[in-house]
Parts: sequence; C-alpha cells; structure tokens
Amino acid sequence: MRLIIILITTIALLFFCKCSSSAVIDLGDVETPTGTQEIAVRDLIIRTIGEDASKSFVVHVDKTMPSRSFQIKKTEASTLSIIGSDGVAVAKGFHHYLKYYLHKHIDWTHTKVELQLPIQLPNATIFSKSASNFIYYQNVCTWSYSFAWWTFPNWRRHIDWMAMMGVTLTLAPIQEYIWHEVYVEMGLTKDEIDEHFAGAAFQAWQRMGNIRGWGGPIPHSYRRMQKILQQRILKAERDLGIRVALPAFAGHVPVAMTRIFPNNTFTAVERWNHFPDKYCCGLFLDPSDPLFNQIAVKFLNKTIDNYGSDNIYFCDPFNEIQPRFADAEYMNATSFHIYESMRLVDNSAIWLLQGWMFVKNIFWTDELIKAFLLAVPLGKMLVLDLQSEQFPQYERTHSFHGQPFIWCMLHNFGGTLGMHGSVDIVNTQIRLARDMVNTSMVGVGITAEGINQNYAMYELALERGWMKDDFDLNNWFEVYADVRYGIRETRLHSAWQLLRQSVYSYKGLLKIRGKYSIARRPSTNLSPWVWYNTSNVYIAWAQMISVIGNTTIPLHNLPFVSHDLVDITRQFLQITFDQLYVNLMAAYTSKNMEKYVFIADKMLEALNDLETILATNMDFSLSRWLEAAKNLGRTPVEKQLYEMNARNQITAWGPNGQILDYATKQWSGIVIDYFRPRWALFLQMLQKSLESNKKFNEEAFKRTVSQEIENPFSISTKVYPSEPVGDSFTVAQRIFLKWTTYADDSHFKKYCIKSIRYV
Ligand SMILES: *[C@@H]1O[C@H](CO)[C@@H](O)[C@H](O)[C@H]1NC(C)=O
Ligand SMILES: *[C@@H]1O[C@H](CO)[C@@H](O)[C@H](O)[C@H]1NC(C)=O
Ligand SMILES: *[C@@H]1O[C@H](CO)[C@@H](O)[C@H](O)[C@H]1NC(C)=O
Ligand SMILES: *[C@@H]1O[C@H](CO)[C@@H](O)[C@H](O)[C@H]1NC(C)=O
Ligand SMILES: *[C@@H]1O[C@H](CO)[C@@H](O)[C@H](O)[C@H]1NC(C)=O
Ligand SMILES: *[C@@H]1O[C@H](CO)[C@@H](O)[C@H](O)[C@H]1NC(C)=O
Ligand SMILES: *[C@@H]1O[C@H](CO)[C@@H](O)[C@H](O)[C@H]1NC(C)=O
Repeated sequence: MRLIIILITTIALLFFCKCSSSAVIDLGDVETPTGTQEIAVRDLIIRTIGEDASKSFVVHVDKTMPSRSFQIKKTEASTLSIIGSDGVAVAKGFHHYLKYYLHKHIDWTHTKVELQLPIQLPNATIFSKSASNFIYYQNVCTWSYSFAWWTFPNWRRHIDWMAMMGVTLTLAPIQEYIWHEVYVEMGLTKDEIDEHFAGAAFQAWQRMGNIRGWGGPIPHSYRRMQKILQQRILKAERDLGIRVALPAFAGHVPVAMTRIFPNNTFTAVERWNHFPDKYCCGLFLDPSDPLFNQIAVKFLNKTIDNYGSDNIYFCDPFNEIQPRFADAEYMNATSFHIYESMRLVDNSAIWLLQGWMFVKNIFWTDELIKAFLLAVPLGKMLVLDLQSEQFPQYERTHSFHGQPFIWCMLHNFGGTLGMHGSVDIVNTQIRLARDMVNTSMVGVGITAEGINQNYAMYELALERGWMKDDFDLNNWFEVYADVRYGIRETRLHSAWQLLRQSVYSYKGLLKIRGKYSIARRPSTNLSPWVWYNTSNVYIAWAQMISVIGNTTIPLHNLPFVSHDLVDITRQFLQITFDQLYVNLMAAYTSKNMEKYVFIADKMLEALNDLETILATNMDFSLSRWLEAAKNLGRTPVEKQLYEMNARNQITAWGPNGQILDYATKQWSGIVIDYFRPRWALFLQMLQKSLESNKKFNEEAFKRTVSQEIENPFSISTKVYPSEPVGDSFTVAQRIFLKWTTYADDSHFKKYCIKSIRYV
C-alpha cells in the first residue's frame, strides 16, 4: 500500500488529563519519491513565473523535516532556497514568499505571475510548520457545479493553485467507466445502464443516489475520456505529494439490479426534490446483504487497479437520503459492513465521510450518530465537518466520538454569486476547535459546492488552516488588497475593511443560498434580507471606482481589478434590486400605480445594467460555460446534450424546475435571456392585476414563466459573445454615476423609502 498509517493513541495525555482515547490520523510519508516531488514542484514554479525567473528558486524536498513544514533562506544575492517536507510544503512556501515578499497574487483564474528580471529577492529566513495535519479541499458537488467541463489544462492550473495553497488531501470522484464494467459483468443491458447514469452536469447527485438518468444517456466515449482525465489529475496531484480519496461503494445501484438479483434486499430511495419516477428513486442495497460486499469489493478492486490508491476512500450512503431504520444496531451494522468491504480490499483503508448527513437532520439522534461512527475502529474514519462555519457538528458529537475530523468551511451552495462570508468565525473558531478538550480535529478544509466567487474567503480559510494563531484581520485584508491590486492605496484598504465588516461579517443561522430577488423566479412573496449595512457596499464601490479612475494599475493586476469591480457593481445592483422589489410590493399593496410604474421601470433598468457590466468580463459570462460544455462533445448530438446539461443545471435544475435556480449564476447571457424576461413578464402581469383590480394569479404566472422562459432556456442553442463586450471600468463608472444620481432624485427618494429586511 502507498502509505504508512500510524495510529497514535496518546497514552501520555491519557495519564495526565484523562482525555478520551481519541485517535489521531497520521498518514505518514507520501509514497511519491522525493525526487519526483521536487521535479513536480520545480515545474509548478516554471509554469507560475516562467523558466528564467524560476532559476532564482532552488527547491528541495526533505522528508526528515517536521511534516508539513517549509524553510526559506536567501542563500545568495540571486537565489532563494525553499526546502519542504513534501512537494506541497515547498509549493506553499513558494506561494508564501510570492505573496508576502514579492507581493504577487494568484487565484483560481490566474496563476501566472510576471516577475521583472533580474528578480530583486528580499531577504528572508523563514521556518513555518502547519498547525493542520490535513488541509482539505473539495466537495463531491464541485465536480458538477464547477469542474463539469474541465479538460486537463484547467486542472493543471487548478492543481498548481491547490499545492500553492497547501492542500494535502482532495477527492477524485469520477467512477462511471468502472461502474460500467461492473454492471456489464453483472449482466445489466446497455439500456438498463443508460437509464441509470445521469448526464455530464448531474453526475454528483447520481453518484450519491439522489437521482438517476437525468441529462443522460452518457456516451461510452465520455466515460473513457473522464477516466483518462482523472488518471492524469491523480498523477499530477500525487507527484506534488497531494493525497487523493477515491470512491468506495455506498450501496446505490441501478433499479435493474432487481432483475438480476430478485432475492436480495433492495430498498427504493425516497424521492429527492420531486424528481419524477423516471429520474428518481434508485435502489439502495443494504450493506449487511452479502451482495453488498461482493459489489463493493469488485468496484474498489477495479478502482484501485485503474487509479492506484492513497488508502483513503470516500463513501456517503445517506447524503440527503434517510436510512431505513432509526435503530442504533442497524446503523452500527451498516457502518461496520461498509468499512469491512473497504478493508477487505485494502487492509489500511481509511473511510472519508462527509458529515453533511448529520446537519439539521432530526433523524440522526446522538445515539444513532454514535452507533454509526463507532462501528469503525477509531482513526479509521476521517469525518469532514462539512459546514463548520455555520452548522458545526463537532461539539454536539463530542468531536465525532473520537473519530478524527476536519474543520471545513463550506461557504457556497451551487456556485451562486453574491458576496458573503463569515470572516470572524473562520478566524477564531478554527483555533477554538483545535483547543477543545478531547479534540479530534486534525485539519482544516474548504468544501464549497461551487467555486469562482468570493475568492478572498477561500484564501483566508486555507491560510488560516495552516497557521496556529488567529490573524490580525485588519492587516490580513490590507495585504490582500495590496497584493491583489498591485498598489498600496488607503482607499482600497478602506474598501476591503468595509466589505469585511459588512458582507463578510455574517454570523447568523439563516441559510445563504444565493437566491437574491434578481436571480429568483419572481413572486409577490419574496422576502429579501440582509445582515449588513448596505451603505458599506456602496461606499466601497465608490472608493474602488475613484482609485481606478486616477491610478495606474500594474498589468498583472488588471484582471483582478476588473473582476472585483464587476463583482462589486453586480453586488450593488443585486442589493438595489432587492430594495426596488420591496418598494414595488409596497406600491402594489397600496395600489399606487404611479409609484408601481416608476419602480418597475427602474427594476428593468437594473437588469439591463447588470447584463451590461457582467458582459465586460468573461469570468461572468455564460459563453465560457456553454462553450466548454459543447467542446466535450464529439458529434452535434453530443454537443447539444452537453449544452442542455450545462444550461439546465444553472436554471431549471431538473426536467421541470425541480431545484429551480439552486445553482443560479449572475452571468451575462443569463440575465438578458432568463432573469430579465421573467421579471418583465411578472411586472407586466402584476401591473395588469393592479389595473384590473383583480387578485394576482400566482399559479398562472408560475405556469407561464416555467413554460415560456425557464424550461425553454435549457434547450436553446443561442450562442453568446466569446469576448468581453465593453470596458469594465467605463461601464461601472457609468452605472455608478447613474444610480448615485437616482439616489438623490426626489421621486426615487419618495418611492424607495422602504429598505430590505435586516436580520
Ligand atoms: C474528555 O474525555 C474524558 C475521557 O473520555 C471524559 O471523561 C470527559 O468528559 C471529556 N471531556 C469533554 C469536555 O468532553
Ligand atoms: C540581506 O542579508 C544579508 C546577509 O545577512 C545582508 O548582508 C544584507 O545586507 C541583507 N540585505 C538587506 C537588504 O537587508
Ligand atoms: C431466488 O429464490 C428463488 C426461490 O428460493 C429461487 O428459485 C431462485 O433461484 C433464486 N434466484 C436467484 C437469482 O438466486
Ligand atoms: C483485484 O483483483 C485481481 C484479480 O483477483 C487481483 O489480481 C488484483 O490484485 C486485485 N486488486 C486489488 C487492488 O486488490
Ligand atoms: C458498534 O459496533 C462495534 C463493533 O462492530 C462496537 O465496538 C461498538 O461498541 C458498537 N457501538 C454501538 C454504539 O453500538
Ligand atoms: C450604514 O452606514 C452608513 C454609512 O457609514 C451610515 O451613515 C448609516 O448610519 C449606517 N446605517 C445603520 C443602520 O447603521
Ligand atoms: C485620485 O483621487 C483621489 C480622490 O478623489 C485623490 O485624493 C487623489 O489625490 C487622486 N490622485 C491622483 C494621482 O490624482
């Protein structure tokens, strides 16, 4: 097996403080030879700063260093030595120097840095050791919400980013090629298999047993392509010393299995989000059934043969699925058999479990959780406490009854846009969880369902995971602004402090799901809310605009400036729209037609402005998403299928709006052809109801909007611009001046008096 697993039961601690016998996971050394890791991290540096500049960095992997540590020393005038305990540690050290000494920024979309030659290398002597044994990244959903259409070049860049952020553990969930082999061997027909696999944008939920078939059938060539892609991803990750968790069998099987195994205990999974029969209610095979073991072993054996192994496997039998019996013995047996099936193939197996099933689910009583967790030997299960920043489970479960866990910031659902975050919680709770009595916390992770939003939050969480002590947040955000924008500017510092104290200061328990009025299906019953003073966003926006108006931004930083400017303009319009909406409803209720017409007009204008600003930056474009999807198809039919998948996931999410707008995107193209037509229709129908003094027919509106706008959007093949339209700064400034003027207008003031609900 690839890794040595050391279980440290802290006998000394037991003696002194009567701590529980909570197990600590230590996976020991990565098996990748140090030479391979060195070459991989050197190549990463070349990709990041170029061949010439890279010559100034001498890297070395030294396994005798404390694990997860790096050491930086300036050895000569023009050379910097970075030594790390593994490839990731070197990459993390390199990024640390890049950010804090050379003041260069990278993020998800940009990982290339231009350095002036010869590089002026600031003096540095640094030793840094991670306070986290694991830095984890990914969520099973990210693969569908963000990575669905990626090819290897996207991954190459992303893996570089992961390593530079210190990520040591991640997922590789692609499994359809292998399942296909298993199903064929077991005797399922092509049709039976095709009805099972979901389309390219929906695989995450079919893998978890939530849906089946929707968006399919997948051509076999796609499965082969995905298998090869994952093999390349795994190699790139392992070369750098990143460990990867592979899927294990969780019990979800095609419905056709009953034909072949009429005598086994399958139970139909309950309907998920109103999906119709054709696409829902797959079967769950009880882990105590001997057939479970047979399938699990077959599947894991093939998985390891195809992908190798780091001895860690993820498996989630009950993700948004209720177990059959609320019985401790049943839960214990279920968990026991699942782990046994892994251990039969890999004696050193560790089960990576998403703790999501325990969150806000009354089924999971303390007794059931305990029975489930303790059926696996301590230290052989690693739990992701999936949304520790809002709904932590580690306290309630007493550190998962001693099973090691990772403190994760989930932050985002469905890859929706909208500025938000819980900076203070991330900063302080990580320390408090580590310092808990009997803590079994072994790391920090980020588990966003979708990426490409609120970048600062993820950089903060990953950096915080490495560090032992809380950050001085004032300072952290100041440096963030300096490095991201390439200039030191008090107005930018101030803008970020305002954002930190507003959008990024969330501490509540209401769920944030990206459903702002502008992006939602219109209704008379929306109830938009904010947790912050919206003036902060406006002032921060004004400050950014004033800086960009009279400052030269370094070329390297322009994409970051443009992105953030578009994003904050988007945020302003999103908030403004919420405010317009609450005043529109006030006008409607008080039957004030003049006010209604005035506001309705402004709402459509906000939608137009949103489309215009988003179109100036490809990070906010539908085109990129659709073109990438089509690019994976080899034939016109495949291209059309993938395009339908891509469109449906971010709008109707299901054949008929089953999870409508859950993964909505404030992107150009969507605003003009989906958000705006919906609101235009609504405003028109609501106005008619006002004019005729007849009650607004909500049901009739829902039917029409779904038939005429929402569902057709999924099957449209309209092509969107592949280049930005307009200049971000000019457009942002125009929108800024316009809405600033409106705010001073006496009509506007009179009509928009009501503010968004503040919680
Ligand atoms: C810590 O573990 C010990 C031994 O299992 C137990 O007696 C004690 O109550 C635990 N403390 C907390 C705060 O959970
Ligand atoms: C960098 O360190 C070297 C060796 O300690 C020293 O000679 C040099 O003056 C330092 N340079 C700066 C700019 O501090
Ligand atoms: C199922 O059980 C029936 C009755 O015991 C038996 O005749 C049949 O062969 C079994 N089928 C399989 C596939 O095991
Ligand atoms: C899988 O099974 C085959 C055939 O029994 C065996 O040769 C191979 O070593 C197994 N692989 C694993 C990872 O157990
Ligand atoms: C569950 O089963 C394991 C052995 O499989 C046992 O050690 C453990 O105590 C059981 N826990 C509960 C709560 O039933
Ligand atoms: C919101 O911020 C603005 C600008 O700083 C301030 O004038 C206003 O009083 C604040 N509103 C509330 C409710 O705190
Ligand atoms: C840019 O504008 C700000 C505020 O409007 C002002 O304080 C600053 O002096 C200006 N800078 C330049 C270089 O014009």
